[in-house]
Amino acid sequence: MLIRTPEQDISRVLFTEKTIAARVEQLGAELTEKLGGKRPVLVCVLKGASFFYIDLCRSMNCNIDMDFIAVSSYGAGAKSTGVVRLIKDLDNNITGRHVVIVEDIIDSGLTMQYLKQLFSARNPASVTTISFLDKTARHDPSLKTDYCGFEIPDEFVVGYGLDYANYYRNLPYIGILKPECYK
Ligand code: PRP
Repeated sequence: MLIRTPEQDISRVLFTEKTIAARVEQLGAELTEKLGGKRPVLVCVLKGASFFYIDLCRSMNCNIDMDFIAVSSYGAGAKSTGVVRLIKDLDNNITGRHVVIVEDIIDSGLTMQYLKQLFSARNPASVTTISFLDKTARHDPSLKTDYCGFEIPDEFVVGYGLDYANYYRNLPYIGILKPECYK
């Protein structure tokens, strides 16, 4: 039987495994420098941020707490519905804590804006935002995160946690999806 592999749907690799690993190490060191003595709570925004989150946590040389939230605004489509749906909330109270929201990508910026508002209402000591990728041309500059792995053009990217209709998340690199695969 012929198996169709995810690689066949990729037109170009944007960031290799090696490039990703090096950048995540840098980001982990920067976050450690900023929050190392404060035992920050790193929040993974499921599911897209999962790979980045785990690598980032491993690259931090300090005590941290891990927590997970699940939201969705894209469903199975390629376009945001414009409404962020909370699927699973945090397990722990973040009042008085230093919170780091870890995202895979800022596209319209809607999800991060929603999460910042949600968490700020819980009176944390601070909220820091980090995204592995940022499509800067797609949103207002005021929605930029505090830390960013790479700014990218407005291309449909998948892999390293990012999906289209739940496919491609397990690709170990960031690749550009062939238009015929999502249009
Ligand atoms: C994706 C991605 C971000 C968000 C970014 O999540 O993981 O959370 O969209 O888009 P925005 O800046 O336009 O809000 P999605 O809703 O597809 O859920 P998933 O992480 O489970 O794939």
